[in-house]
Amino acid sequence: MTPHIEANLGDFAKTVLMPGDPLRAKLIADNFLTSAKLISSVRNIYAYTGLYKGKTISVMASGMGNPSMGIYSYELFKVYNVENIIRIGTCGAYKDSLDLKDLILVDSSYSDSSFAKVQNNSLEDTISSSSILNSVIENTANAIGINITKEKVYCSDVFYSDISDFKKLRDEYNCAAIEMETFALFHNAKVLNKNASCILSVSDSFVKPDKLTSAERQNSLNKMITLALESAIKA
Ligand code: HPA
Repeated sequence: MTPHIEANLGDFAKTVLMPGDPLRAKLIADNFLTSAKLISSVRNIYAYTGLYKGKTISVMASGMGNPSMGIYSYELFKVYNVENIIRIGTCGAYKDSLDLKDLILVDSSYSDSSFAKVQNNSLEDTISSSSILNSVIENTANAIGINITKEKVYCSDVFYSDISDFKKLRDEYNCAAIEMETFALFHNAKVLNKNASCILSVSDSFVKPDKLTSAERQNSLNKMITLALESAIKA
């Protein structure tokens, strides 16, 4: 047990999928896993372990933002001996080459967050995901015919910013999209010598007016969940 997770040691699989939303964790457990067991629900941050194609996989929500992801991913890696975390989330596209529902494999995360500085005095502002895990995800995507593009993303601590300049983040920092959890996840994986990757579905765009219907949104999320699960059983 940790201050934030009530599961017993040994309850988590080696690989954990992390959506932001607890209800998405439940949806994955209910619809994609068999024999899924709820192993933690502290603060309604649901965690489940179950079987996907006969292999044991866990899914747990991260909550929103680096501080929340920072707590859960640290405890999973450090206390529960989790080896691999694959975040599955949504992002806002900065580039017009990205359409709604496109899938991104996050290559690296740029952030102006103080997370790494406060965690261990690191001055890094860009952290890479796991190349090993990324290869598994890319090979799996190819094998099952899912398109995914590798991109650098901006990981923000502030959703409602009055000063954030997306064109600068795109054109000077080469960030293709914005989300809010990868920086803490990749930093924790790095300091604890574990593997973390992230698959994102484009849910909104800063440069295109289109909006997703809820059916379209769920469909693209299902594609992302399938890719994450198919990759997780090979990791
Ligand atoms: N900002 C931050 N995080 C996000 C966004 C956004 O516009 N869209 C999806 N996740």
